[in-house]
Amino acid sequence: MEYPFTRPRRLRKTEIIRNLVRETDLTINHLVYPLFVKEMPEKKVEIPSMPGIYQFSPEGILEEIEEVMSLSIPAIILFGIPDKKDEKGSSAYDENGIIQKTVRKIKAIVGKNLLVITDVCLCEYTSHGHCGIIKDTSVDNDETLRILSKVALSHAEAGSDIIAPSDMMDGRVKVIRETLDKNGYHDIPIMSYSAKYASSLYGPFRVAAESQPQFGDRKSYQMDFPNKREALKEIELDIHEGADIVMVKPALFYLDVISMARQAFNVPIAAYSVSGEYLMVKEASKAGFIDYKRSVTELLISIRRAGADIIITYFAKDVARWLKESFL
Ligand code: PBG
Ligand code: ZN
Repeated sequence: MEYPFTRPRRLRKTEIIRNLVRETDLTINHLVYPLFVKEMPEKKVEIPSMPGIYQFSPEGILEEIEEVMSLSIPAIILFGIPDKKDEKGSSAYDENGIIQKTVRKIKAIVGKNLLVITDVCLCEYTSHGHCGIIKDTSVDNDETLRILSKVALSHAEAGSDIIAPSDMMDGRVKVIRETLDKNGYHDIPIMSYSAKYASSLYGPFRVAAESQPQFGDRKSYQMDFPNKREALKEIELDIHEGADIVMVKPALFYLDVISMARQAFNVPIAAYSVSGEYLMVKEASKAGFIDYKRSVTELLISIRRAGADIIITYFAKDVARWLKESFL
């Protein structure tokens, strides 16, 4: 044996020493909690595909917001489910639409103490469930851009703090940036879902957001999952068009993409730990063979270790509670 003999175990002896040399942290500052708001009489309804996650009415969500704030969660991302859908998703840019009125209500209460991010897309608002306008049988890119910029502007007017386009149309960051700037919203950041893959892990979300496509799939606009270099191209384009924060989505099956993006770019990177990731961990721990707290922590730390700055996660409230009790 060589002298000196290196013994990595010296630094694993006690919790204190492990903490001292720990390379990656998870604090509440990184987390964004997704919330679903729906035009409905009930205050809250549990989502069957996502145990522990609810749809809220615009009234009902205010209690939830109080809880989110009491847990010191810094940001939420809002998804809206309107009462009327049509071919063009026109309720998405209605000034009295579900998101617009909910954002006004929330902002009146929270002021600057909670960041309200709004998801900009059409799939919850179109009768066919696609993220854009259908011409013939496919999603028309440039027609969709016109609508998306109206949606983004209506969110900014309602008081949204960060605009997050998730549609995956080409050029949407550019038109949204131009529209916001033209209307005086220079200082509203864009968090773009840049590398968003056509993933099986969105299934539970589509029940929650009532946004299942009524025909076909999203493969003509969301990315093909075997591709990695293409993520660099998408992210680069979005940064060039004016994105302030770029996102990789999903997170768990795409840690390589997060890691690569971290190396290649100097903007903050967000990772969306999606509904399918949530459900896998929830159900597996319900079965009793993996520990809920430990697996959630390991999952979120892996996303941070890969290089994400921001994590959008349905686990945010649980993590916040554990952090308060200093369990992590
Ligand atoms: C679509 C959108 C999706 C999610 C958020 N916005 C995916 C999709 O339906 O294609 C998924 C989020 C999740 O699974 O948690 N605009
Ligand atoms: Zn969509």
